Amino acid sequence: MFKSIREEIQGIIERDPAVRGWLEVVVAYPSFWVMRYHRVAHWLWKRRLRVLARWIMQMARWGTGIEIHPGATIGERFFIDHGMGVVIGEMAEIGDDVTLYHGVTLGGVSPSIDSDEQRNVTRHPTLKDRVIVGSGAQILGPVIVGECARIGANAVVTRDVEPRSTMVGIPAKPVQLSRAEQGAIDRFVAYGTPLDVSDPVKADNEALRDQIAMLKARLNAIEFSLQSTEESAPAPVPAGSDPAPRPSKRAGD
Ligand SMILES: CC(C)(COP(=O)(O)OP(=O)(O)OC[C@H]1O[C@@H](n2cnc3c(N)ncnc32)[C@H](O)[C@@H]1OP(=O)(O)O)[C@@H](O)C(=O)NCCC(=O)NCCS
Repeated sequence: MFKSIREEIQGIIERDPAVRGWLEVVVAYPSFWVMRYHRVAHWLWKRRLRVLARWIMQMARWGTGIEIHPGATIGERFFIDHGMGVVIGEMAEIGDDVTLYHGVTLGGVSPSIDSDEQRNVTRHPTLKDRVIVGSGAQILGPVIVGECARIGANAVVTRDVEPRSTMVGIPAKPVQLSRAEQGAIDRFVAYGTPLDVSDPVKADNEALRDQIAMLKARLNAIEFSLQSTEESAPAPVPAGSDPAPRPSKRAGD
């Protein structure tokens, strides 16, 4: 158990650029505290001490602003940055090294309609290992979010998400990423946003510079050919001299 707690603290330090040491994590990170409560409550839930488990998670919610149902299954090194407003439903399944930001919901599609039929049925999302979910994103229904996928801030996801893809918008759609960005997905980057990819403005400037150089070269070639045409043309006829003979008019014209 202590190994798992140590790894969780280490995971938070690795994934949050704002943290400076383990003591900060222990005293100031709601994610760390809610997970201590959840480990106990989940254990009780599985042993059918359900009201006690729910009461414990309700206490955790008052203290952290994070609502996790004790029935949710959560893997190792889970981290909810900031935390406030996160809701995780009963049937949610979360893999290892998953990161959520504040305001995320892992919920059902319409829990208030035919509630009885939805009991004990998988109605919440499954997040595979190393998924990152941006602030305010809503993942609804029994969808599967593949390994290393990233969900953009405020996206609404209601369908399965391919592993290693990035989804943004409402409804969430995949974003086409460059090869460098795609590579960055395999390692954790804070906020899901890689900083070491090529600068698009710089790339645009370089492309413009290349185009200007090419246009200059073409202009030079055109000027050169115009100059050579002028040089090879016959000398102009001086004023008053006989103009060049005109073609004779044909009869009947
Ligand atoms: C989705 C995300 C991971 C993508 O990051 P990225 O790989 O750097 O992608 P880019 O910024 O290059 O964006 C790619 C495209 O998606 C769009 N986009 C990015 N995030 C978006 C979002 N949340 N909603 C809508 N569109 C988004 C960009 O405008 C861009 O569109 P364009 O190609 O038409 O210009 C990131 O934008 C994000 O939302 N991270 C979560 C951050 C967060 O929750 N922070 C809270 C910290 S407290």
